[in-house]
Amino acid sequence: MRGLLPVPGDKSLSHRAALLAALADGGRTRIENFATSADCAATLACLEQLGVSVRRQGTTVKIEGAGLKLPRASVAPLDCGNSGTTMRLLAGILAGQRFNSVLTGDESLRTRPMRRVIEPLAQMGARIESRAGCAPLIINGRHPLASISYAPPVASAQIKSCVLLAGLNADGRTAVVERTPTRDHTERLLRWFGVEVATTEEINVRAHAETEMIEAQTNTSAHIVSLAGPARLAARDCTLPGDISSAAFFLVAAALLPDSELTISEVGLNPTRTQILDMLGALGADVRVEHTREQTNEPVGDVRVRGRGRLAPVARDANVLRGSVIAALIDELPILCVLGTQVQGGLSVRDARELRVKETDRISAMVKNLRALGAEVEEYEDGLFVNGPVALRGARLDAYSDHRIAMACTVAALIATGESELAGADSVRISFPEFFPLLDSVLER
Ligand code: S3P
Repeated sequence: MRGLLPVPGDKSLSHRAALLAALADGGRTRIENFATSADCAATLACLEQLGVSVRRQGTTVKIEGAGLKLPRASVAPLDCGNSGTTMRLLAGILAGQRFNSVLTGDESLRTRPMRRVIEPLAQMGARIESRAGCAPLIINGRHPLASISYAPPVASAQIKSCVLLAGLNADGRTAVVERTPTRDHTERLLRWFGVEVATTEEINVRAHAETEMIEAQTNTSAHIVSLAGPARLAARDCTLPGDISSAAFFLVAAALLPDSELTISEVGLNPTRTQILDMLGALGADVRVEHTREQTNEPVGDVRVRGRGRLAPVARDANVLRGSVIAALIDELPILCVLGTQVQGGLSVRDARELRVKETDRISAMVKNLRALGAEVEEYEDGLFVNGPVALRGARLDAYSDHRIAMACTVAALIATGESELAGADSVRISFPEFFPLLDSVLER
């Protein structure tokens, strides 16, 4: 595998850039390198249904700021497709509107847990009806919302972002108290749009008291993010970096295919997302970061990998992923399990129950697919153990309609001997429609 590749714009950042541009107080935001993912297209379509002017030409998106009060209610339900980020972040914005909204999605999204956002938004004064905690959600907005200080029960950037976005339409300071830090794109982008976002140092007394309580209970320090509402956002052009979670599939493939040398250019290097690079290094892969710089408040750079085939860990405990590192690697765990099959001592993933409520149950999906390929795998309620190194052989695989399972299975099939067949491969469109043609372009035959 050889070459220099860009990967499409970051999915997490594209959702956020579009939403914040829509909330800007007048003015047009031009977003460059907007994600090609179907999930991000769902966010744009929902904004248009809410009366926001969105113009898209390829990966350039222009959005007219409508202000914190969105122009109009949508007559039809807002379809978030397969996208949990669209539903949870939009719920935060819609909770503070003077109209009612219905959020729905595809079969997978309608089974995913939404109480995690219903609960804080209800505390802020919105009334939300659901089907046993799942979508469709009927959001009876209230303006202004009441500010809260909220400690999410699970480490989730989507919950944090939902509460912060609701906080823009609240009276007073809204704080999110995190025991485990999660990706901080919302905070960085809010600052880019001119909102003052305070972190642990500058928070109010009530949040401080809660932090101390949480610290005492969990014996760990908490991270607090807060902002004061009602806020005002100023339109500002954005250029988004490539998606490191998409790059991860290529990085692992290159690391495992001997004699590879691959560079992924202009990729996002936000420290809350780069744990994957540290892990690859700790497990013995040859990974280097070059040409780093800052762009739209986010670090960006190139990542180069050289292929070594089977790997041996170079750091103690590198074979065990558990605790706070899980939140930082959540989207990369399926592909890391593939890597685990080629690592001396294998790979153990624990404390990762959240994987069971992603686009599919990713623990079960990886266990079944890796076993089909001949890997030795143990399944736990909160994770799995993959033994390594083990030779994989081609098999019939199933993506279970999940984009990251499809891409992880493809990389596993590449390092296996013999042919594999993958059902549900078209799900890559959710985050990375160009995955197969790009892979083809760097594979040597
Ligand atoms: C995302 C956060 C993560 C991640 C998802 C995108 C985001 O979900 O799995 O792909 O953009 O905030 P959780 O925050 O629910 O873990």
